[in-house]
Amino acid sequence: MQVPLLDLRAQYAPLKAKFLAAIEEVCDSQALVLGPKTEAFERAVSEYCGAPHAIGCSSGTDAQLMLLMALGIGPGDAVITTPYTFFATASCIARLGARPVFADIDPATYNICPSSVEAVLKKTKNVKAIIPVHLYGCCADMAALKVIAERYGVPLLEDAAQALGAQHPLGGAGSIGEAGWFSFYPTKNLGAFGDAGMVVCRDEALAAKLRAFRNHGMEVRYYHKYVGGNFRIDAIQSAVLHVKLPHLDTWSAGRRARAATYRRLFAAASLDRWFVNPVEPWSGSGLPNHHIYNQFIVRTPRRDELRACLGASGISTEVYYPLPLHLQECFRDLGYKVGDFPESERAAAETIALPIFPEITDAQQAYVVEKIAAFFR
Ligand SMILES: Cc1ncc(COP(=O)(O)O)c(C=O)c1O
Repeated sequence: MQVPLLDLRAQYAPLKAKFLAAIEEVCDSQALVLGPKTEAFERAVSEYCGAPHAIGCSSGTDAQLMLLMALGIGPGDAVITTPYTFFATASCIARLGARPVFADIDPATYNICPSSVEAVLKKTKNVKAIIPVHLYGCCADMAALKVIAERYGVPLLEDAAQALGAQHPLGGAGSIGEAGWFSFYPTKNLGAFGDAGMVVCRDEALAAKLRAFRNHGMEVRYYHKYVGGNFRIDAIQSAVLHVKLPHLDTWSAGRRARAATYRRLFAAASLDRWFVNPVEPWSGSGLPNHHIYNQFIVRTPRRDELRACLGASGISTEVYYPLPLHLQECFRDLGYKVGDFPESERAAAETIALPIFPEITDAQQAYVVEKIAAFFR
């Protein structure tokens, strides 16, 4: 049996006719960049996640970059974030000449630890933003982070690249802080047919600035108020994403059900003593979508051996992420060393993502768990 990490064709097939019709409409209109399809999709996401303004753009990375540009973050500034995330979260800070300053994760959720953030705030000057990442689709502890951000007067921005549709008691992922962003890279839970992203925010003036920044800083054509960039989203991507959005909650429910199935199978196979599956932090809150399982991960010190064994059995897995950002070669100048963020380093050594997508079958999941059980036996 083959078990892919993700099967995009299973999602594409039942909606194919709708995608082709939406794409044909864009082709017939020849309104190919931004335009009415993008405006309609922006309105839909704004309503969906509960943020008043939504600005579509070329990728999740560009969403963060143009937001930090619009906030005027640059040389001499520091931005606090987690070292256990995708590279873009920190690289966008560094690309603007600002300094990423890391705070370790809470091993129970893999998200930035609020008390570590506060410790860093106490000893760091010129902090211009705090960026939690809702890693794997699970909301960070936004209540605690909000209190700390307000106490220090620092904007709280959310990297919700993996978390559109995740819910926290304070609101939808991305809509809780001053601004947040999503990635629509094809493997994300809401994936385009190429690259795309979006910023959402509360403040109307910031939204207007972001619309200018995504289009070379223009409010009036060929009059450049800011030095922005080309961060525009294509109409075809907006149209495709708009076809998918109404299905997102059903897909998230499917991912949650699949996660529950893994847990049930692990328990039945007595696997819990061999490895840990991090807990669901808001399970007492009554929110159905506190974790939307963009990824389903487990951790074991024998991660690399387990991964090789599953690969040999036709089961695809991934390691998000093998080296925390404070130890990346390009960030050597930041002066961090091994041991600075022990939880992130341990997570990087032990974590493995298992196949998860709404359409994965019971038989595929049973096969994955059977092979894991055989490995530990
Ligand atoms: C946490 C996180 N931040 C940012 C990004 C960047 O998004 P994109 O790939 O759309 O540029 C990603 C996507 O991989 C991500 O997972």
